[in-house]
Amino acid sequence: MVSRILKVPSFDLAVFGGTGDLARRKLFPALFHRFLDAQFSQPTRIVGVSRRPLDHAAYRVAIADALKEFAAAAASDEAIKSFLEMIHYVCLDIESEAGWDLLGHEFDAEPSRVRAFYLATDPDHFGPIAKRLAAHSLITPAARIIVEKPIGRDGASAACINDAIGAVFPEKRIFRIDHYLGKETVQNLMALRFANALFEPLWNSAHIDHVEITVAESIGVGGRASYYENAGALRDMVQNHLLQLLCLVAMEPPASLDADSVRDEKLKVLKSLVPIDSRNAGSLTVRGQYRAGAGEGGAVPGYAQEASNERSVTETFVTLKVEIANWRWAGTPFYLRTGKRLPQRISEVIVAFREVPHSIFPAESGKISQTRLAIRLQPDEGIKLWLMLKEPGAGGMRLQHVPLDMNFAEAFRIHAPEAYERLLMDVIRGNATLFMRRDEVEAAWRWIDPIREAWNQMDEAPRPYLAGTWGPAAAIALVERDGRSWSEETE
Ligand code: BG6
Repeated sequence: MVSRILKVPSFDLAVFGGTGDLARRKLFPALFHRFLDAQFSQPTRIVGVSRRPLDHAAYRVAIADALKEFAAAAASDEAIKSFLEMIHYVCLDIESEAGWDLLGHEFDAEPSRVRAFYLATDPDHFGPIAKRLAAHSLITPAARIIVEKPIGRDGASAACINDAIGAVFPEKRIFRIDHYLGKETVQNLMALRFANALFEPLWNSAHIDHVEITVAESIGVGGRASYYENAGALRDMVQNHLLQLLCLVAMEPPASLDADSVRDEKLKVLKSLVPIDSRNAGSLTVRGQYRAGAGEGGAVPGYAQEASNERSVTETFVTLKVEIANWRWAGTPFYLRTGKRLPQRISEVIVAFREVPHSIFPAESGKISQTRLAIRLQPDEGIKLWLMLKEPGAGGMRLQHVPLDMNFAEAFRIHAPEAYERLLMDVIRGNATLFMRRDEVEAAWRWIDPIREAWNQMDEAPRPYLAGTWGPAAAIALVERDGRSWSEETE
């Protein structure tokens, strides 16, 4: 299968936080890959912005190093050199008025040219940066702003940030990134649901017993402990990535793929989530924190040690039982689970269909397991449909649970672009379908905040789990209480 690259118009992009981790690990490698695939029209300019006193040349060396370390594509020195010709640097302290005009000089003055500002900074800086961009007349008619999650740390702070950005950019030119929406298989969720006649008639509580959404990571918090200590898994992963996945699984068919049609439907799901608060958080949530244990390369320390805070009560693991109060989903729980230092890195949505109403097979045929649809986001992106089939050969009717297995890499023999590659190109094209709208972000916080408050009131620390295990035993018990189990316990 041949990949089809659609060129984007030439653009100017400023990356605030241009020397930071996100820029080095994700943004510049993503831009580089798109450049290698000849997706850019020239002239295109990318301007790194940060406080560090660097000049263009020194910044280009730093970006070349980042590409060598983090870009997946093996590229010739020649290719890196031509990419670097587009890279510029502006030293600027966002808290001061100096330097902003220099930034303006880096851009093309033509008002219709695409100009994008990527704020890869702490969310506290989003409002002040937006304000200064306006004060220094850098916001042209075609300008757009890209902000990273987390947008705030609760509903109130998110509203302040949204107000500040919204005061200078219209909503349709604000691109709130949740990089999970850029993952290939996440978009395949929409293809699977809405481009096939098979699933949609069964996609409701009459036929689906429950849904599991797992985003497991084997890594710990590493060098991000100072951010993570104030965030925890609920804010870092559930408020955005897991809820967005839940929305795509649960939403009604949108009228079209148009940004607002999709976002309207996701918003309705968020508004239908049954609240979890101090009355039910004890039975519907489990928090955990990893202790020293086994990591991929051997023994690893516990979270509290990594965060240099022996008393830390930050959760590195969360399980939630979520219910959606609408006609389609009443009676079908969604079990959400995410954590760090789990046995493997795996992100997966499992849709477990209801059991057959009656078995015609004798007991010796074996247990009839639920039909399960597993949508794997990473690694090994693909879809598996677990069905009961007869074991081949003699020996009577012995049934087996086996997968119809479709691995995207094998099926399409094409390297799917990384999430940031797709999302950055969507910003340049002005396509906001895979970005979060203000009301979505705030609705997600409205549902998350009472969980946080309930935990604060519970006067109970997160439950410990050993690094390298699937979280606290209570997370397994939460599902087992309902007569169910997480999928890796059944397959
Ligand atoms: C980020 C979180 O949004 O997503 C990180 O802040 C997490 O804590 C990361 O590690 C996971 O992303 P991915 O694409 O590696 O699954």
